[in-house]
Amino acid sequence: MNKPRLIIDTDPGHDDAIALILAHHFADVKGITTVAGNTSVENGTRNAIRICDLFGIDTPVHRGSSSPIASEASFASEVHGVDGLGGIELPEPSRSETSDLASEFLLDEVEPDVWVVAIGPLTNIAEVLKRDKNWFDRIAGLSVMGGGAHGGNVTAAAEFNIHFDPEAADIVFSAGGNTLMSGINLTHQVQVSEADLTAVYRASPESPRTQFIDQNFVQIIESLRNLTGTSEVAMHDPCAVLSVTHPDLFEFVPRQVAVELHGTHTRGMTVVDERFRVSRDGPMIDVGYQVKANIVKDLILEVLYRDTGGS
Ligand code: RIB
Ligand code: CA
Repeated sequence: MNKPRLIIDTDPGHDDAIALILAHHFADVKGITTVAGNTSVENGTRNAIRICDLFGIDTPVHRGSSSPIASEASFASEVHGVDGLGGIELPEPSRSETSDLASEFLLDEVEPDVWVVAIGPLTNIAEVLKRDKNWFDRIAGLSVMGGGAHGGNVTAAAEFNIHFDPEAADIVFSAGGNTLMSGINLTHQVQVSEADLTAVYRASPESPRTQFIDQNFVQIIESLRNLTGTSEVAMHDPCAVLSVTHPDLFEFVPRQVAVELHGTHTRGMTVVDERFRVSRDGPMIDVGYQVKANIVKDLILEVLYRDTGGS
């Protein structure tokens, strides 16, 4: 059976790195576009290429938007470090970005069987929809890591990717295209702990790739421990990839989703309407609620520590 075809829009980012590895393992990745979010778009582009280099990936990388539509960029340095990967030792990029025209790539290179997986703020996707309101008709669908049915992470109400650029998310979720939303109500069900790592990593042959993967987990878990007191990390971005490559492991429900743009305490909140109604007017998107968490976690760790192989 043919592999799913993807374009990944990303702000690497520790969990973005895992999502990129999984995407290239399970799918045919046509391109990577980068966006400001966890770190600057320059850092994110450099990180995307360095990750590709380490895992022998030659997918083109197109640099995208450097700032949100209507607010100042607020990077997640306290979680992902200033450079977006916590200063992890990686060789300098072997190649430069393919272009700085991510939106053009997303406009011109999508095809009816290509899924776009957006695992950072939705600034690039909103730019594309501003320029082609029928863009959704030209893709298989959009899988978003962002938002949530209840609560937030960067604030009590908002999840980071949506909060970083709420105007962009409002444009994307109002478009009514074939959209999967893997929000934190879903992604928080898939947590990797230090105990999981010890069990798997220590049994794996050591290589530069598994060393990077281990450092990546250790760092993000340390950052989150300092912030939250927990010693585990949710597989946010990997869920947005696996919900396309392994749809049987996830359950999505059609919902109307509004993005709060003005609330003092709620800006960036995804307001998911869960009321029963006989009929609905306005666009719906598919909101993730259930995941076979243990299977997904094992799948992720198996690919990262067993199948990445090599140098
Ligand atoms: O809230 C989680 C999201 O914010 C993930 O995409 C993570 O990479 C950060 O960007
Ligand atoms: Ca991300």
